[in-house]
Amino acid sequence: MSIPADPADRTPRIVRTAAELSAAMAQAIEAKAPEHGTATLGLVPTMGALHSGHESLVSTARAQNDVLVVSIFVNELQFNDAQDFARYPRTLEADVEILARAGADIVFAPEATEVYPDGRPLVRLDSGELGSKFEGASRPGHFDGMLAVVAKLLHFAMPPATLGVPVSYRAYFGQKDAQQLVLINRMVADLNYPVEIRSVPIIRSAEGLALSSRNQFLTGEQAKAALVIHRALVLVKERADRHEPLYLEDAAGLFDMEPLVELDYFELVDPRTLKELAFNCQDTPFTGEGLLLVAAKVGGVRLIDNMTLGY
Ligand code: PAJ
Repeated sequence: MSIPADPADRTPRIVRTAAELSAAMAQAIEAKAPEHGTATLGLVPTMGALHSGHESLVSTARAQNDVLVVSIFVNELQFNDAQDFARYPRTLEADVEILARAGADIVFAPEATEVYPDGRPLVRLDSGELGSKFEGASRPGHFDGMLAVVAKLLHFAMPPATLGVPVSYRAYFGQKDAQQLVLINRMVADLNYPVEIRSVPIIRSAEGLALSSRNQFLTGEQAKAALVIHRALVLVKERADRHEPLYLEDAAGLFDMEPLVELDYFELVDPRTLKELAFNCQDTPFTGEGLLLVAAKVGGVRLIDNMTLGY
């Protein structure tokens, strides 16, 4: 595939292999570098089925970088449920249209054989204690599989060193997946990746439901019932803002009034370590910083959300 001749043509270049990606990045960086002798490159990893939450990442990265790469890859390794993997929406054509409007330069959409040429990788990353709680507790192996692909995607999109142009490399992730973001930050620090991780706030529907590719599996009634997640988070956030005791248990109790929603966890944790905060169950006024994590099942759909307190 060739670079569009008309620079005003916003259609992103779609590449399928690591070699094509490197060549496309080199060309795009060289085209930008003469403007200031250095360049910035942003990567937004996704599994496709793009919605306004993804778009927010893409437009943030677009505004902050000369060259923008978006990857689309449904990573089987991070699905612990084969049925969930099989029914995960795959909408490449619609995704590319969205990315054209959002101004992506390159879309990297590899086949599984490009990412994992030998099948499941033999050497694996271990997300450790951080990856076995909360989402990890109900999705065994999920975070190890997520780290495996993010580690590879960060390599695939690393700016080619041979260009002779200093390139600042950033990768963008949503606060929506708070535990994922903490783990990626740890992996990048622990393994010395030369990339800066930037986070982007949660995008919600007008009613408050955090956007997710899985929301399309909810009926209207289920989507309405799921709003209890946001109500519970806001209740606690308002108390934190007023420096009142948080009474987490009665916020969690809101879920008892929604028979369609089955609460998994509703926990206040340290935003960096995800350790449960000591005053979780006490009636003392809230001070400091916290992250409220929630997960619930609605029908067959698992929903997660979170809210930061004290910022
Ligand atoms: P995916 O679920 O497609 O999400 C891609 C990115 O979009 C993630 O960083 C996620 O946190 C962000 N995102 C999703 N919904 C959002 C919302 N409502 N508001 C803000 N950001 C949102 O997360 C993954 O894919 C995968 O695990 C991946 C990192 C690509 C590795 O396979």
